[in-house]
Amino acid sequence: MAVHEIQVIAQEVRQCTLCALHQGRTHAVPGEGPADARVIFIGEGPGFHEDRQGRPFVGQAGKYLDELLAIAGFQRSEVFIANVVKCRPPKNRDPQPDEVATCTRAYLFRQIEAINPRVIVTLGRFSMGLYLPGEKISRIHGQPRTVNGRLLVPMLHPAAALHQQQNRPLIEEDFRRLPEIIARAEQEAAAKTAQDDKEPPLEQLSMF
Ligand code: URA
Repeated sequence: MAVHEIQVIAQEVRQCTLCALHQGRTHAVPGEGPADARVIFIGEGPGFHEDRQGRPFVGQAGKYLDELLAIAGFQRSEVFIANVVKCRPPKNRDPQPDEVATCTRAYLFRQIEAINPRVIVTLGRFSMGLYLPGEKISRIHGQPRTVNGRLLVPMLHPAAALHQQQNRPLIEEDFRRLPEIIARAEQEAAAKTAQDDKEPPLEQLSMF
């Protein structure tokens, strides 16, 4: 079911003409990974190499993301990797608010619904801004919170760490802590479910 929906969305992305970004693309980049991934990583948008190959995070930033995933103990093949916008902005400029709004409504949010991941890891300020508008990534990176029932972990963008060497220890430390952050959130969710199960149903409460 989710597999089918993910394939349908990917096909729509490849044919998309909803915003001007489609005019400059070689390939759209729908994202990739298992349709039942527990964790989704969301970058900003395709760069030169992603546009050429139609796959997310395959350039320099992608190689570094692979290293970061390994630090967190993940295989790339077990997580879903997506972007806010699915087509490369010209000269790698920032995606515009209307492009972000159009593309996320049409594709990213549907992908998240279909995959239903427990954990969303945002990479950089654009994907963070979808959930935490007005926050500063430099202030809140690595700090988990719950949004719409999912664990959200805002991370620095791997490219930012590549370009500014002082960010490397920060991003690597955040990824190193990721398994522990996820495990703790899952324990808390399980404890809450167990507690909810113990609460008497409302109709019983009204008897007292
Ligand atoms: N940077 C991103 O945000 N996404 C990619 O897919 C590649 C680089």
